[in-house]
Amino acid sequence: MDIKITRASALKDKPDSSTLVFGKAMTDHMFIVDYDAGQGWHDARIIPYGPLQIDPAAKVLHYGEEIFEGLKAYRTADGSIQLFRPRDNIDRLNKSADRLCLPQIPEELALAGITELVKLEQDWVPSEEGTSLYIRPFMIGLDAALGVHSSHHVQYIVVVCPVGAYYPEGLNPVKIYIEEEDVRAVKGGMGMAKTGGNYAASLRAGNRAEERGYSQVLWLDGVHRKYIEEVGAMNVMFKVNGKILTPDLNGSVLDGITRRSCIQLLKDWGYQVEERRISAEELFAAAESGELEEAWGTGTAAVVSPIGELAMGEKKVTVSHNQIGEITQKLYDELTGIQWGHVADPHNWIMKL
Ligand code: PLP
Ligand code: COI
Repeated sequence: MDIKITRASALKDKPDSSTLVFGKAMTDHMFIVDYDAGQGWHDARIIPYGPLQIDPAAKVLHYGEEIFEGLKAYRTADGSIQLFRPRDNIDRLNKSADRLCLPQIPEELALAGITELVKLEQDWVPSEEGTSLYIRPFMIGLDAALGVHSSHHVQYIVVVCPVGAYYPEGLNPVKIYIEEEDVRAVKGGMGMAKTGGNYAASLRAGNRAEERGYSQVLWLDGVHRKYIEEVGAMNVMFKVNGKILTPDLNGSVLDGITRRSCIQLLKDWGYQVEERRISAEELFAAAESGELEEAWGTGTAAVVSPIGELAMGEKKVTVSHNQIGEITQKLYDELTGIQWGHVADPHNWIMKL
């Protein structure tokens, strides 16, 4: 499908890449393609970035008919630009679409929306260490009617923004609070989909954790309320007595692309990785016996983030002396090395633009 490009008449000033705040500095253009039942995807276009015109009765505004993705474009030392596993994001977008009765988007169209926009905005891809261009593709249901039904008119949109570290802590360990009241998702719900509703469900606990001085919430499963699931914007991994433990993909946890990349790297290095149920009790017991050696989160925005403190109610443990652990650092170095093109990419994860 041809993409019609309408350029912005005036370009914005680019932000200083040493002081980027995550997700605030949107670029000059955005990609949009429409979908109508019976007609399919049509009118792919790149237009100046700006407000969308949405009917106040549109389903997305009332019933959360929305899915999204997050990936990044990286500037390499030779000035070229590359993406990390973009087809995995599109595959997950289509899985989320299936859950929310949104239409499947052909992989090549979804990818073209990303690559053509990044090419047009290439001057926005920062080169300072630790920075990248964050890419946010999303799909919304736009039928203007208040009945609860899936939409026949849908848009897939891509916006991009230069970013630095997601947490103000950078690569310093973050403090994570295990939430015991609210739940993010349950099996059979939408936990495995990347959809706005899951994040709306997380806001109250997130605010409470922040008030207590914690960066994010670690969710427990919604049935037993005892097994670790994931953090607000990342999957979690633990090094316990030399082994790596991470919650299994039980239907309510997001199948993170950084998670699957880290598991692959850890296996390449000979680590035993157990994807299984992990109770909060098991973690605290491991911390008490000195077997909890490292904890970290994985995510596109968060990359590999060391966890320095875990708390639940009155219980609190410090992990790895509140320092970045050896494996956490090694994973961060290897993953970002591949992403920024400093180290070899043995699994073909990189797509050059
Ligand atoms: N879990 C949640 C809830 C997230 O929002 C994210 C971020 O995308 C992740 C996990 C990590 O997924 P990925 O590594 O694909 O970015
Ligand atoms: C990402 O890592 O891409 C995410 O989507 C996290 C986001 C919720 C900030």
